Amino acid sequence: MNYINPTKTSSWELLKTHYNTIKTKHIKSYFEEDKSRFETFSLKFEDIFVDFSKNKLDTTTIKLLIDLAKETKLKEQIAAFFGGMPINFTENRAVMHTALRYFGNQEIIIDGEDVMPKVNAVKAHMKEFSDKIHSGEWKGYSGKKITDVVNIGIGGSDLGPVMVTEALKPYKVEGIETHFVSNVDASHIAEVFKKIDPETTLFLIASKTFTTQETMTNAFTARKWFLENGGNEDAIAKHFAALSTNQKAVEEFGIDSANMFEFWDWVGGRYSLWSAIGLSISLTIGYDNFEQLLKGAYAMDEHFKKADFSENLPVILALIGIWYNNFFGAETEAILPYDQYMHRFAAYFQQGNMESNGKSVDRNGEPIDYQTGPIVWGEPGTNGQHAFYQLIHQGTKLIPCDFIAPAQSHNPIGDHHPKLLANFFAQTEALMMGKTAEEAREELLKSGTAQELVEKLVPYKVFEGDKPTNSILVKKITPYTLGSMIAMYEHKIFVQGSIWNINSFDQMGVELGKQLAKLILPELDHNNPVIGHDGSTNGLINEYKKMR
Ligand code: F6P
Repeated sequence: MNYINPTKTSSWELLKTHYNTIKTKHIKSYFEEDKSRFETFSLKFEDIFVDFSKNKLDTTTIKLLIDLAKETKLKEQIAAFFGGMPINFTENRAVMHTALRYFGNQEIIIDGEDVMPKVNAVKAHMKEFSDKIHSGEWKGYSGKKITDVVNIGIGGSDLGPVMVTEALKPYKVEGIETHFVSNVDASHIAEVFKKIDPETTLFLIASKTFTTQETMTNAFTARKWFLENGGNEDAIAKHFAALSTNQKAVEEFGIDSANMFEFWDWVGGRYSLWSAIGLSISLTIGYDNFEQLLKGAYAMDEHFKKADFSENLPVILALIGIWYNNFFGAETEAILPYDQYMHRFAAYFQQGNMESNGKSVDRNGEPIDYQTGPIVWGEPGTNGQHAFYQLIHQGTKLIPCDFIAPAQSHNPIGDHHPKLLANFFAQTEALMMGKTAEEAREELLKSGTAQELVEKLVPYKVFEGDKPTNSILVKKITPYTLGSMIAMYEHKIFVQGSIWNINSFDQMGVELGKQLAKLILPELDHNNPVIGHDGSTNGLINEYKKMR
């Protein structure tokens, strides 16, 4: 593939000129000029409605951004992705998490092999295992039913399952509690130990590589705790399972290969919730619901593959992101779900996006002189409104926001949901419309503020507005719609990485810290001062030695 620098395309040049003509145009004026703007700039996919009309863009912007996608060969890149080409070229790997949720009847060939038989075999194993745990057929060493599952993993082996099991709590199977341990800080696992009983607990050691320091440390601690609290070596097979690509390391740890749920190097860690890493999801909400999650994602995959760019949800969201990131200079993007169950959604895509597109060398090995991945952050509404929205409304930074809300609540108690949704609608309206000085003045006078105070307060009460948002309205957060939404954001990341000409599928930047931690660990074994680092690091380690 001929990798193209997006800034060298003619559409990029045209976008720069276009930016200068529309950058100061207030979003609300687009609505005054065009009564059908909402219809023009919104898309529906099954039960997901996306309104992107409250953005600083017009039909020319979308056309030019689509031209940019075409000039950077997005279509060909999508074909290479779904075609199993080694698009993660620095690791010589295909990127095929979509095969894990493929429900068509074609072969999926990676390295000359149809992977569907082995994908389906692992899924069948996950179903059988989940069913046995739920029915009580699978028993702990003392003959009791398993009541607690502890997933030990970090990064992609934790964030996806945590996010999904939280988002789909209403689908939880009765009688099973799921716990997640990720941090190497012993406090994390210690708190879980307080809640579980070795006789009725199943530990899932979730690690693609089965070498990650945090996960292996927690796994050995769990094993030791199990053996010291009534378990024995023979009982390990009933209480430990592994979710990994590394069979050798799993066996060395002492986990029965019958309890290993395999996946493959063509599944990236941050895209692995669809694989065996999803076993904690299947155990929490049942295999059938896990399969619905996969089916929702599959539907989005098909949409992404086939829909015209102008009607393609991941493509449009990605292009809007590029518009703000590269032309308006926005550094961050907020994801704001108005759904308490989705409280880890932004954290999940923080890894998804920032580990994928936090890159500064292009696919030709050249340093990049344009912006790539944004900083992704967010918290659920309405809580965020009472915390950080002030800066979005009246601060000096441009923060494009995705507002997400379900039309139907899982808990239709009193008027909670209409109140939640009223806030969801009000915020994007306020962010766009703002408040003029006249409106602020009138409001102050109406509230009885003394005339001399009014003029002093007006400047503080003015909201410029003109703040861009996407609104994503979902009929209900079900396993299926959640699957579609996750896939939508995954593909958005893919599109952006393709256009920015970066490899979105490696993560070399996390390695240096890991290497240095390995060097430092033995230096903490003794009380002699260290001298081998920079002045600050030496100083800190030596202070720590005095304090401990
Ligand atoms: O350190 C980053 C990372 O490699 C992530 O990409 C990955 O999700 C996480 O660590 C955990 O890796 P593993 O599943 O191999 O334990």
